[in-house]
Amino acid sequence: MKLLSVVGARPNFMKVAPIIAAVESHNRRLSSSSSYAAEPIRHRLVHTGQHYGDLMSDSFFSDLGLPKPDVHMGVGSGTHAVQAAEIMKRFEEILLSERPDVVIVVGDVNSTLACAVVTSKISFDTNGTRPLVAHVESGLRSFDRTMPEEINRVVTDHVADLLFVTEESGIRNLKNEGISPDKIHFVGNTMIDSLLKFRAKADSSTKLDELGLRVSSNNKGGPAVTPYALLTMHRPANVDDPAAFREILGGLEELAADLPIIFPVHPRTRKRMEEFNLKLNVSGASKSELHGLVLIDPLGYLDFLCLMTNAAIVASDSGGIQEETTCLGVACVTVRDNTERPVTVDMGTNIVAGTAQAGIRAAIRSQRKRSGANGTPQFWDGHAAERIVDVLSRIRQSKLVQA
Ligand code: UD1
Repeated sequence: MKLLSVVGARPNFMKVAPIIAAVESHNRRLSSSSSYAAEPIRHRLVHTGQHYGDLMSDSFFSDLGLPKPDVHMGVGSGTHAVQAAEIMKRFEEILLSERPDVVIVVGDVNSTLACAVVTSKISFDTNGTRPLVAHVESGLRSFDRTMPEEINRVVTDHVADLLFVTEESGIRNLKNEGISPDKIHFVGNTMIDSLLKFRAKADSSTKLDELGLRVSSNNKGGPAVTPYALLTMHRPANVDDPAAFREILGGLEELAADLPIIFPVHPRTRKRMEEFNLKLNVSGASKSELHGLVLIDPLGYLDFLCLMTNAAIVASDSGGIQEETTCLGVACVTVRDNTERPVTVDMGTNIVAGTAQAGIRAAIRSQRKRSGANGTPQFWDGHAAERIVDVLSRIRQSKLVQA
């Protein structure tokens, strides 16, 4: 069987890395055991280039031990239409020359949508033979169609043949939308596979030292860390409008007065701050609109995991960070009006604060009093990618031909 996986944007890399590792281990098992009745899986990795450069892409390949992409489309930035159209045009040609049996897309970014749609409509011959579309992280819904990612999730799920779900809400959502249960596989979370695999390695990141946050040794002999908060912010709804952006900063004021807030700034956010002339962390403090923020460049996977693990509290509008903090038992305040990942709220680590000052302030106050999670969501155990490869390896060749 030939499998082709697509990555495009930063949150895709940690979701695909465990799948590639699981494919390799499947193939190793085959070559070492004659009783393991399955066929080898040939794997190809395609990078659309939605995110690019060292900070947003290349460093993740080295941190996660990802192989160099077999094909790099180099699409780059653009409006949603331009970006998706460019990816679609180039991906169609790649599919026609690669002719895979299954295409794996992950998450909810523009690359996910574009490649899923192309795969679902391509035809390799007059019988309409095409690859199966497998969507990893299927079924998540914010029920907010103003989010570009929500459109990407819904469309991708409705053209997918295999839907790999991370949490139970996903199964419910897909069934409610009329998707046949036999396409749905509850396998867990491949992003958590990566977190569990790389957690120990992230401990040796030097980022805390570089930021002056590692102070001395505590009485158990381990390194003590100055309490700090961690912030990420990049959603268009939060950063593309100066009033919305300033409202959120207002909600962080009380926290910033108490703890340093480490803020790795996403390129979209950096661009908007320049456009809005938003002055943060300016030395000669009177010019700063919010004191206590420590602005830094976007971080690589291991450095960010280290900072997340040791943070007193995380405030973010990201999707994946809600899940990673749940797994780490770190308090998270989600600066959005909704979440597509309700299990993180059920586990007690995450509060959806909204985007108004008062709500953010109240959520931070409440989260600073708590620690730990109520448990771990089902199948967030480091083996989700193995379950996915197991499902793929049991697909009979006849099912791969679609009419
Ligand atoms: C994208 C995803 C979002 C995900 C986020 C993670 C979509 C619809 N959005 O948002 O779901 O949470 O990635 O980071 O797919 N830019 C750079 N360097 C890069 C990439 C982008 O400078 O490597 C700048 C460009 O100015 C670009 C802007 O950031 O116009 C936004 O990039 P884009 O890929 O369109 O969306 P993100 O906001 O990154």
